[in-house]
Amino acid sequence: MERRGFLKGATGLVGASLVGSRLASSAAADAAQTADVASPPQGMSGVRGGAKDDEAFWTQIRQQFRLSYKRIYLNTAGLGPSPRHVIRAVSEMSEELEDLCETGHSHALWTLAKERAGNIFGCEPEEIAYTRNTTDGVNIVCNGLPLKAGDEVITTTHEHVGNTISWLARARRDGIRMRVFEPSRASAGETLDRFASLINDRTRAISISHITTAAGQVLPMEEIGKLAKEHGLFYFVDGAQSAGHIPLDMKAIGCHAYATSGHKWLLGPKGTGLLYVRRDALDQIEAKWVGAYSGAGEFDMATGVFGFADTAQRYEFGTVPVSLFHGLSEAMGFLLDLGMDRVWARSHYLGQRLITGLRSAGAEVVSPLDSSENSGIIVFRVKGMTRPELQSYLAKNYKIRSRGIYEGGLEAVRVSPHIYSTGADVDRVIEAVAALHL
Ligand SMILES: Cc1ncc(COP(=O)(O)O)c(C=O)c1O
Repeated sequence: MERRGFLKGATGLVGASLVGSRLASSAAADAAQTADVASPPQGMSGVRGGAKDDEAFWTQIRQQFRLSYKRIYLNTAGLGPSPRHVIRAVSEMSEELEDLCETGHSHALWTLAKERAGNIFGCEPEEIAYTRNTTDGVNIVCNGLPLKAGDEVITTTHEHVGNTISWLARARRDGIRMRVFEPSRASAGETLDRFASLINDRTRAISISHITTAAGQVLPMEEIGKLAKEHGLFYFVDGAQSAGHIPLDMKAIGCHAYATSGHKWLLGPKGTGLLYVRRDALDQIEAKWVGAYSGAGEFDMATGVFGFADTAQRYEFGTVPVSLFHGLSEAMGFLLDLGMDRVWARSHYLGQRLITGLRSAGAEVVSPLDSSENSGIIVFRVKGMTRPELQSYLAKNYKIRSRGIYEGGLEAVRVSPHIYSTGADVDRVIEAVAALHL
């Protein structure tokens, strides 16, 4: 069923915020509203400059966010702030819909949002389903796969709890067995060997993060995909830390399904998510929560006739928060305007700057040191300090918002800058660590 709607032909209502360069149009308006920004962005017509270390450019991007200057926010891996125009788009659409008390079922809006999601994922728009968060996607996949007692699923010790509990619950309920390996932070080849050593004739699936929450490690997705294919395994990827962070290409990765949240690196409204399901995997993942939007064609309770959509929309069911998904669409448009290559170059550059600086300041960097395996998420320890001590030192003395890492027993602290972070923000972390060693 099409998410049809009253907004068709009423594009004036929402159309203005759906078109044009979000970067250029919002800069001046945003600057005018920014009480705590010393100098407003000047002359930002279109996207010019923007090399990974072009601080003037990234400072203008910073000014597109409401994000308080009272602290240094370095926890994108937990929650990403939304640009001002995204927040405005959400509130304007909420008000418009409430004025009329309408559902907001705009075909144009849904089509645009899925097109943008397709561009972020590197897949067809029809292969995307709206969810509430990454964990929602994990649950759809984990509970939809036809697994039985004794079947084995491989995962890692560096997964977030969101990609752990659903599998453990399924193991308890249905008797599947989880097999676990620790990703090697020394080499991708060793990671692949560890994965391969767990594959046997009972293995059915692998569930693994693209970029790990625990160490910010970029795992060798394509090679894992090749191994999974060779052994006929279902390949699921937790993309909570990768969508909106690194350019994606679902075909190259070769996975069957890939889940993410809208509210981290995609900088969208909180409580939005996206799930990619490859067309030929639709019938492997049984849709269990279904409703109006899952169906296709006729349905009849008396005869039992009904069909599922032949797209990932089959995993959607009832009414969704339209204004939030409109906001997510706008946030994805913002990233696509910038270009995912540029976004990744910036994040990776900030990550590298942190690694180099933290090491010379005396910290132990837990994230991989090989630049092909590290990201914008950097995890580190300081000798003689516990994880809570280091985290609270950064918060109290330097107003830095980090996140403690207990996953995989790493006992470390994570910082995760994104496009709204400046070089000065990450240098402050380095300065804080250096001050401990004076
Ligand atoms: C790798 C990973 N998976 C899943 C999640 C859970 O995300 P959500 O709460 O948006 O479902 C997180 C959150 O940090 C994560 O890092």
